[in-house]
Amino acid sequence: MNARFGPGPALRGTLEPPPDKSISHRAALLGAMSATPVRVTNYLASADTHSSLDAVRALGARVEERDGALIVDGPGLRGAAEGAAIDVGNAGTLLRLLPGWLAGQDGRRWTLDGDASIRRRPVDRIAQPLVLMGAQLDARDGRFTPLVVSGRPLRGIEYALPVASAQIKSCVLLAGLLATGTTTVLEPEPSRDHTERLLTAAGAGLTRDGDRITVTPPATFALDAIHVPGDPSSAAFHVAAAALVPGSRLTVAGMAANWTRVGFFRILERMGAALTGALETRADAAPDAEPLAQLEIAHGPLTGTRVTPGEVPLAIDELPLVALLGCFADGETVVEGAGELRLKESDRIATVVDGLRGLGADIEATVDGFAVRGTGGLRGGTLAAHGDHRLAMLGAVAGLASREGVEVVGMEAAAVSYPGFTADLAILTG
Ligand code: S3P
Repeated sequence: MNARFGPGPALRGTLEPPPDKSISHRAALLGAMSATPVRVTNYLASADTHSSLDAVRALGARVEERDGALIVDGPGLRGAAEGAAIDVGNAGTLLRLLPGWLAGQDGRRWTLDGDASIRRRPVDRIAQPLVLMGAQLDARDGRFTPLVVSGRPLRGIEYALPVASAQIKSCVLLAGLLATGTTTVLEPEPSRDHTERLLTAAGAGLTRDGDRITVTPPATFALDAIHVPGDPSSAAFHVAAAALVPGSRLTVAGMAANWTRVGFFRILERMGAALTGALETRADAAPDAEPLAQLEIAHGPLTGTRVTPGEVPLAIDELPLVALLGCFADGETVVEGAGELRLKESDRIATVVDGLRGLGADIEATVDGFAVRGTGGLRGGTLAAHGDHRLAMLGAVAGLASREGVEVVGMEAAAVSYPGFTADLAILTG
């Protein structure tokens, strides 16, 4: 499906972003692992998070809607049912987290597979630590789906992540719940910590000491209720549009304020955007809860910035928007240490650079990022989404901010994380 956006008009009003995708995936999985039923409020209705509900159902969970909430009544830590192949659809987070739960369930076996994009995304990154713990994982060419997970008794390990990835970290921590002894993960840089907060809430013995996160198998693993806050990664598209389109003034309400998720807003502030709102800081991070924030953003001039490797995991899914902002900023905007972008739903270094260049941007790819020279704006044109939800939404925002508008080819991809994106944008732009 093709859709045309812009140029303009300005964004006005209040956005309640859709529920957070990362936390929704975790609510489905950890809900199913809980010894008692879990009441999940504000679960995201999207293609990706439906895949997680289908997966836990296939593993023996009952999922019911009651009084506007989802009740996830799962088979518990060690009770996942063996069955037909599990289809993860387009969901990389489900693909990387689920094996962490399954790997320690001795004597049972599962096959995970997904769509064409999933089949290009590596799973050796999770197979390596799980095999070290004692599980058996067989991937196509040692690297890709279909992935067969054969559960075995696991032993705790100490594992230094080769890259800062919340998915790998979460997978190892989940496996640690079923292992003997303690399991420690060392992070090269902090990444989103939703799994840690939920494990703490569930009574798993989780401790954090600098870059070391340790989990001890709990006597009981039980969650009660999970409220999913608004998704900062989805809100970021409208916030970027408000920063770029003259006359815009936008409020964002009910958004997750977790400091490991708001790196994009910090970068935007540094670029000079008129942004206010109380976001969590590292020093005041909540151990077992997800705080909410309200943001205000208005259009204004921007200056280029340098995004350092340590900031990358805190803004990983929003880096395409940093490239777009850079087109409008004074001077140069550079992102370094973001090689992980090449392994997302598309190679996001290549697709962002080609896509924006096609709209008139002065941008070039580097091995692990990109460099953009601000030219005062963007002409517009056509941008292909390549089946990548964040590319589709990037194209829409670029269209609003451009001189001639943008035609997005493959806009339907947005439904992977934000089915109401175009409708919300239509409301905000009147
Ligand atoms: C996610 C972690 C990130 C992010 C993805 C969601 C998660 O991936 O890009 O959209 O929910 O844990 P990596 O862990 O591969 O960096």
